[in-house]
Amino acid sequence: MRFARVIVGLLMGAVTWPPAWAGTVETIFAHQHLGAASCASSVCHGANQRSANSPILGNEFSIWQQVDPHARSFATLATAQSQAIARKLGLGDATKAKVCLDCHTHNVPEAKRGEKFLVEDGVSCEACHGGSEKWVAAHADPNADRSKLIADGLYPTNEPVARAKLCLTCHMGTRDRMITHEIMGAGHPRLSFELDTFTWLNPHYEIDADYIERKGEFNGSRDWALGQGLAAANLLDVLLDPNHGWNGIFPELVLFDCHACHRPMAGNQWGPRPGTGLGPGAVRLGDSNLVMYRHVLSVVDPAAAEKLLADTKALHRATLVGRDQTMAAARTVKNDIEKSLDQVAGFAFDEDTLGKVLGSLLRDAERGEFRDFAAAEQAALAAQSVVVAFETAKQLDEAAAKRLQSGVDQLYGTVENGDKYDMSRFVAALKSLKAMAP
Ligand code: HEC
Ligand code: HEC
Ligand code: HEC
Ligand code: HEC
Repeated sequence: MRFARVIVGLLMGAVTWPPAWAGTVETIFAHQHLGAASCASSVCHGANQRSANSPILGNEFSIWQQVDPHARSFATLATAQSQAIARKLGLGDATKAKVCLDCHTHNVPEAKRGEKFLVEDGVSCEACHGGSEKWVAAHADPNADRSKLIADGLYPTNEPVARAKLCLTCHMGTRDRMITHEIMGAGHPRLSFELDTFTWLNPHYEIDADYIERKGEFNGSRDWALGQGLAAANLLDVLLDPNHGWNGIFPELVLFDCHACHRPMAGNQWGPRPGTGLGPGAVRLGDSNLVMYRHVLSVVDPAAAEKLLADTKALHRATLVGRDQTMAAARTVKNDIEKSLDQVAGFAFDEDTLGKVLGSLLRDAERGEFRDFAAAEQAALAAQSVVVAFETAKQLDEAAAKRLQSGVDQLYGTVENGDKYDMSRFVAALKSLKAMAP
């Protein structure tokens, strides 16, 4: 996988942290939704090929329709796999079940659907860009006031915090759109997400000089960093919610490390993970984003990283003590994260700091921190993000860039299958990648 990207360092403005975590879906749903067909005129976003004289590609609709899995997400609900999942859950037809539709299409309330709106279109333009009733006429004007468009319901997908919050509603599950262990137990694939990488799979946009002139800076490493913080904060937000975080006497198991329970019983697999402080036989919170965010803070604010480590360990211990203790410890960690997001948003991630992130990942790996698959998977995605940033920022020659990418591919190879994950192969691949990095 390689993603073309322009990194613009140093010029990072503060992110406004909205007062409440939730509300993303309400923002998207706020206005009338005209439907994907209304974006598809050949002079708007429906050209056959990329436009020569427009700042945007112009063929967004065909890119989305032909290569973007979002356009197929509703059709997925009609497959035998989906029907089997729905049957096991007693939901009847998956293409009519609200819980599935909420993530697999743009499931905006009936009253908000315009004439051309089709639920069969799946996760269509307005599912991410917001109901367009009020901004559709104005937004084509290159001189349109962007803050006015946003006030009228255009969702700021270019802002990393807003984008992360949007993607997480479907790619991790939030209070607004929840995925449960019950759904996984019926056969739904495990969800895994990384903001920067996922922003660059199947894009219908290009970050070039002109984009930056129109929309301001873009920095993939910062987006990776913020994405980790927001995913970790979301995990705790769901855990803290009595309606979603708990299921009878158990906490919601989807928030825990899948492989803590799902592994063979042969024994001899356990070893200490310093970041948890837990002994053998414990069910661990799914802390992969917390581990990654600690690596972010280790370069942005080492003291805050130390505090996050201590508070995360306290949270792991609290899960073995009781519900009240767990909730209190989760609040502390969530607070640590939210307090630091502005600083991360304003931090200049340059080649130096990216090298440090890789070094920090490797030190953790050598201490056994990536014993758990999900954290190793996130570390591989982080390495990809860092390597792309090296490539663009340093403009490595082609041979060096190729070598680095083959290192990342090798690392990805070790996290392809969670059931066959072998930590020593992962550590070796990370070590050789680090040795190749500039
Ligand atoms: C309304 C729900 C929803 C939102 C919002 C959403 N996605 Fe998705 N996304 C999905 C679903 C569902 C799929 C799986 C589609 C399928 O295969 O049927 C998916 C698939 C993907 C894939 C392909 C994954 C793979 O394994 O190949 C990428 C990449 C992706 N989304 C990126 C994003 C990004 C980036 C955002 C935020 C800007 C985002 N998505 C927002 C629902 C959503
Ligand atoms: C919280 C959002 C969410 C909910 C709820 C949800 N899904 Fe998904 N589903 C996703 C995402 C995101 C993916 C893509 C995962 C990836 O590739 O990274 C996906 C993938 C799938 C896949 C695999 C598709 C493929 O191409 O391999 C199936 C099948 C599926 N979902 C069916 C269902 C059914 C049936 C329901 C309802 C019981 C449901 N989903 C509920 C978000 C959700
Ligand atoms: C899964 C979420 C998602 C869906 C669905 C989606 N987009 Fe986007 N779109 C994004 C993201 C993320 C960006 C990049 C950030 C930005 O510039 O806002 C973007 C950017 C754009 C841009 C701006 C490019 C630029 O150079 O400024 C246009 C135009 C666009 N999308 C049109 C569409 C159209 C038309 C559709 C439907 C055919 C669509 N999008 C569907 C997420 C989405
Ligand atoms: C606390 C332990 C625990 C955790 C953590 C856990 N599971 Fe489970 N899982 C179970 C149990 C118990 C079952 C039920 C097994 C049965 O019915 O025979 C199960 C069933 C399943 C099944 C169905 C297996 C089958 O053979 O039909 C899947 C798939 C699954 N879990 C996926 C996941 C995923 C993905 C995660 C992480 C997001 C996860 N589990 C986390 C304990 C756990």
